[in-house]
Formats: sequence, C-alpha cells, structure tokens
Amino acid sequence: MSNPSLLILAGDGIGPEVMDEVKRIIGWFGEKRQLGFDVSEDLVGGAAYDAHGVPLHDDTMAKAQDVDAVLLGAVGGPKYDNLDFSVKPERGLLRLRKEMDLFANLRPAQCFDALADFSSLKKDIVAGLDIMIVRELTSGVYFGEPRGIHMEDNMRVGINTQRYTEAEIERGARAAFELAMKRGKKLCSMEKANVMESGILWRDVVTEVHKDYPEVELSHMYADNGAMQLVRAPKQFDVIYTDNLFGDILSDCAAMLTGSLGMLPSASLGLPMANGRPKAMYEPVHGSAPDIAGQGKANPIACILSFAMALRYSFDQGVEADRLEAAIEKVLADGARTGDLMGPEGGTPLSTVQMGDAILGALDASL
Ligand code: NAI
Ligand code: MG
Repeated sequence: MSNPSLLILAGDGIGPEVMDEVKRIIGWFGEKRQLGFDVSEDLVGGAAYDAHGVPLHDDTMAKAQDVDAVLLGAVGGPKYDNLDFSVKPERGLLRLRKEMDLFANLRPAQCFDALADFSSLKKDIVAGLDIMIVRELTSGVYFGEPRGIHMEDNMRVGINTQRYTEAEIERGARAAFELAMKRGKKLCSMEKANVMESGILWRDVVTEVHKDYPEVELSHMYADNGAMQLVRAPKQFDVIYTDNLFGDILSDCAAMLTGSLGMLPSASLGLPMANGRPKAMYEPVHGSAPDIAGQGKANPIACILSFAMALRYSFDQGVEADRLEAAIEKVLADGARTGDLMGPEGGTPLSTVQMGDAILGALDASL
C-alpha cells in the first residue's frame, strides 16, 4: 500500500521557518515509527504571487484536491499589503477553503500544564484542559442573503441574514460526532434556539444525527450560556459544535484560555473522500508574523500541533499524535521556551530550530 500523501504549503514570513521544523518531525515519524508520508511542496500566498502573479496557482489547487491532507504555514506580509484585493495572499487561503469545501473548522483549546500560568484564568480552571470547538465555516450569517446597506425612509439600514439548510447543519454535525468518537465521546451543541428559528432547526438536526452516534453523549446549550460556561468551567466540555458566527467568537475565547498564539493549531475538514478520509487542511492559527520573520524566533509548536491533529483526524494515528503532544508537554515542563512564551522574569529564549531539536529529543526519549 502506498503512503498517505501530504501537500506542504509553507507560505510567507515565519510560515517556512515553522514548517521546516514540521518537516523534521514528519521525517522522524517515517524513520522511527515506520509512518511514511509522500510529501510534496508548493507555493501559496505572497510566495505564489511572486512566482506566478496569483496567490494560488491552478496546478497547486489541483494538487490540494488530490492529496490526503494539506499542511499550511501562513500567508501575507507588508510587501503585499498594497496588492489588488483579488490577488492578496489571503485569497489563496480562501480559495483553498472554498474549493475544497472545508465546512468544519476545528479549533482546540488545550492547556499544557507548564503554561497554565499564561492563562487569564486561575491555574486549576485551565490545567489539563483539552476541548475542541467545531465551527460551521461555509454558511450562516456571513454568507446569507439578503445582505448589504440600503436606504429606507431616509435612513441607512444594514442587513445580514442567518440562513442554514438542514444539509449544512447535518454535514457539520457528522464531522463533530466523528471527532467526538475519536475523543471523549461527549458533544455539546450550541445555538440560540430560544430566539432564532435557525437555532431551532440546528437543535432538531443535531438531535437527528445523534441517532447514528448513540455512544456519544449529546447536550444542547444556548450559546450565550456557553460563553459563560467556557470561562467558568471549561473542563466540562469535550467537543462543542456551533454555527459560523457563534463559533468565530467562542473559538477565539476558548483558545485564549490557554495562552500564546504561537501554541494554537487548527484544522478545516470537508466531506469524506473515496478513501474515507475527510478533505482536510491543517494550519496554525497565527499569521506570518512579519515583526519576527527571518530571525529564527518563531515558535514552531502551533504548526507542529497542527501536524499532530493531522495524525489524529486524517490518519487515525491517535497513539502517535499523543506521542507528539506528550513530547511537547515534556519540553515545556522542562522549561523550553521560545520568546513568545517567556514571562517578565526573562532568560534566553530558544530559537525556532532549538525548539524543534528539543521536541525531536523528547520524541527519541519516548521510544
Ligand atoms: P500574526 O499572527 O502574524 O502576529 C501577531 C503577533 O503574534 C506578532 O507580534 C507575532 O510576532 C506574534 N506571533 C505570531 N505567531 C507567532 C509564533 N509562531 N511565534 C512567536 N510569535 C508569534 O498576526 P498579524 O500581525 O495580525 O498579521 C501579520 C500578517 O499575517 C498579515 O499580513 C496578516 O494578513 C497575515 N495573517 C495570516 C494568517 C494566515 O495565514 N492564516 C492569519 C492571520 C494573519
Ligand atoms: Mg475570528
């Protein structure tokens, strides 16, 4: 059987720097765990614009449709700020998400004990936290018609429409239940069924999909209460499934429970392909960080954790994903810190490559 395929799109700024560390980790799994991947690389964002005049070449798009998973670094930078909107680096990312139809955005909030002091919450509320928010990404109020600003009785009126079909709610729900099956088998669906018809439909459809996943414990919560519960007692959750707007806000809120932008991975999933794997793109939440790009200062952990998500959710390698996450937990517990993870007490931060070295060392020690 051939190896699963990965397309790496490192992008701009710190993207290539953090991706270099991911490539070493991928190499380690091939060598030490006989977990080989067919890795190919291509350009996205400003790098693609420089080479082809577009932020994503058609050939790259075709490759992305063909592989088992895409790993993306980051796009953008001041050099490209004045480009026409149609060729801005971000358009490359948006095209990937749209044409791969990546409708389920997964944002974990995971707290490494060694970094619990970074949280704005009390340490015991976040220590050991490990939850996942699944946000519907391709529909809802950001896309619904009618929309726009127009005049009515000599007054400007701004309109956006929340619109969800049952098919849209259902496919996201299936992705969320599948994840719950690979995790703690607990799913909380969040909407505002008390005041929104789309919320009533949301609740009904999620309840119907639940029949196919009887092992998962399902609960429903109004999204405003969900926001309160996330900061009051986040460990009560495992997987949360919510719509595009609520998910935008709740996932940013949940992610920051755990500290630095340099630690946050994400995944975007689509429909299952012929081989049963979902269409998938994995990427750190952070951007291209022009202020530190080219200086070897970037924290590679968000990008490495994105690869750990790929191991777990695209390749059914939960044990190896655990191994990688444990290696990161270990180096952090031993005091390894890039600049973004340093407190006011100071010290000498590790470089991007040194952090990669430390994680590879912890992986070796795990054998
Ligand atoms: P940013 O995430 O690039 O940086 C925000 C701050 O966090 C900066 O001070 C940066 O140094 C720091 N930071 C980010 N990632 C880090 C890491 N791994 N290690 C250490 N420090 C890190 O967001 P910003 O500054 O708003 O945007 C910069 C560029 O990135 C813009 O062109 C923006 O459009 C683009 N961007 C791209 C994204 C993507 O590719 N998915 C997402 C967000 C922004
Ligand atoms: Mg947001």
